[in-house]
Amino acid sequence: MMALKTVKMQDIIDRTVIFVQKTLEGAEAGHDWWHIQRVWNNTKLILETEQADRLICELTALLHDIADSKFHNGDEHLGPRIAGEFLTSIGVDETTILHIQNIILNMSFKASLGKIEFNSKELEIVQDADRLDAIGAIGIARAFTYGGFKNREIHNPDIPIQSNLDKESYKNTTAPTINHFYEKLLLLKDKMNTPTARQIAEDRHEYMKSFLQQFHSEWNGLK
Ligand code: ADP
Ligand code: NI
Repeated sequence: MMALKTVKMQDIIDRTVIFVQKTLEGAEAGHDWWHIQRVWNNTKLILETEQADRLICELTALLHDIADSKFHNGDEHLGPRIAGEFLTSIGVDETTILHIQNIILNMSFKASLGKIEFNSKELEIVQDADRLDAIGAIGIARAFTYGGFKNREIHNPDIPIQSNLDKESYKNTTAPTINHFYEKLLLLKDKMNTPTARQIAEDRHEYMKSFLQQFHSEWNGLK
C-alpha cells in the first residue's frame, strides 16, 4: 500500500514537471522553468527540517508561476485556474487542489502587501523557497532581467525610493531596477517564515548589500 502511494506521488510530480516545462517555454528568464526548478529545490531543502504535506509543497512550487498575473494583464485567478484544471486532469483530489490554489493566490509578495486571506505551513515553505530565489546573486540577475524585459532604467538618482509600498503602487510601479532592491529585495530576509530559509537568506542579503555599495560607488565615479 505504502509503495503504491509513493509510486503514484512520483507519477503526479513527473507529469507536473512535464506540464510546467512545456507551458513555460519562452517565458521571461526570471520566471522560467529554471526559476521553478530552483524554487522546487529550495522547497525540498526546507522540507528536510520542516513538517508539512510534501506533495502539496512540491506541486505548489512547480505550479506557482504557471500564469503569473504580471504577465497576464493582472489576472490573479488565471494561475490558480490553470493549475486546478491540470491537477484535476491527472486525478489529484479536490481538497489538495483547493489548498494549492489558495497558496498560489496568496503567496506572492504583492498579495502579502494586501489583506492576508489564507495561511498554512505549506504556504510558508513555498513562499520562503520563492523568496530565496529573489535575493542573492540570482536575485540580482533576476531583477535586472525583469527590468530589461520591461525596459526600465537601471538606476535614476532623481526617482526616490518608495518605502512601504501598498499593493496597488507595487503593481503599477515603473521605477528603475535599483529601486526594487530597496522596495522589496532587501526586505525579504526579515520576512522569511522558516529558520532554514532565514539562515540561507543571511549570506544572500549581505551579498546584495555589497553589490549595491559597489554599484553606488562606481555610479559616483569613485572607483
Ligand atoms: P513574488 O513572485 O514574490 O510575488 P514578483 O513576481 O513580483 O514577486 O517578483 C519576482 C521577481 O521578479 C523579483 O524578485 C524580481 O527579481 C523580479 N521583479 C518583479 N518586479 C520587479 C521590478 N519592479 N523591478 C525589478 N525586478 C522585478
Ligand atoms: Ni516565483
